Amino acid sequence: KSKKITIAIDGWSSCGKSTLAKQLSKELGYIYIDSGAMYRAITLYFLRNHIDWTNEPEVDEALSNITLEFRSNNKTGDSEIYLNEENVEYVIRDLVVAEKVSEVAAIKAVRSFAVAQQQKMGAEKGIIMDGRDIGTTVFPNAELKIFMTADNAIRVERRFKELYEKNPNITIEEVKANLEMRDYIDSHREVSPLQKASDAVVIDNSDLTQTQQLQIALKYVRMKQ
Ligand code: CDP
Ligand code: CDP
Repeated sequence: KSKKITIAIDGWSSCGKSTLAKQLSKELGYIYIDSGAMYRAITLYFLRNHIDWTNEPEVDEALSNITLEFRSNNKTGDSEIYLNEENVEYVIRDLVVAEKVSEVAAIKAVRSFAVAQQQKMGAEKGIIMDGRDIGTTVFPNAELKIFMTADNAIRVERRFKELYEKNPNITIEEVKANLEMRDYIDSHREVSPLQKASDAVVIDNSDLTQTQQLQIALKYVRMKQ
């Protein structure tokens, strides 16, 4: 019987991290946690409640009023995020949230709040988490660390397709600017910037189908189990 491990997936915006994480979770029967959804939900709360996130005490107070939870959807079995008991899985994907999330995720108190909960969720093995700092900060001892990447133009195209389905007013330029801005802030911030962990394997899925990327990742999983 194969041993349960911890799998950390990090990488740039919209390069296929959550797609791969969901595939692996189904294949292995592991729990999947989307850490980006937590930063997006916190951002949604800040926006809705007009929190001035440059003000430290205001941020601390706001965080003390936030409860985040992942629950499995009865029909699809997918894990979905709840903000204070409200399912926000769909609304956090909006570009309005994406415009601010990297700014919010750069705040030290916000990261400590999220990381503490992520580490608790991953206390037992058999977990897959994707994000920006999972292999470097959240689970530095993860048995398997994957760093994902894909060509910029391909990432923009993929995310545009997703957002356009929800909102046909969206332009490819807006999506491109958002991905570039987030990648810049995420990789240049002071607290746990996006970085490839030294022991991570790289998967570039620019020219890979979802089936192909799963096969490659599964080979790495088998090596570590
Ligand atoms: O799916 P996408 O690549 O668009 O982003 P996401 O995974 O939903 O993450 C949204 C944002 O949350 C990122 O751009 C980062 O600013 C932040 N994030 C982070 O700082 N650390 C993580 N572990 C995950 C996300
Ligand atoms: O989680 P992250 O933001 O890194 O990316 P994602 O949401 O998993 O993937 C972004 C988009 O790329 C989704 O629409 C996926 O269906 C698509 N994708 C793809 O076309 N080919 C792949 N090999 C992986 C993802």
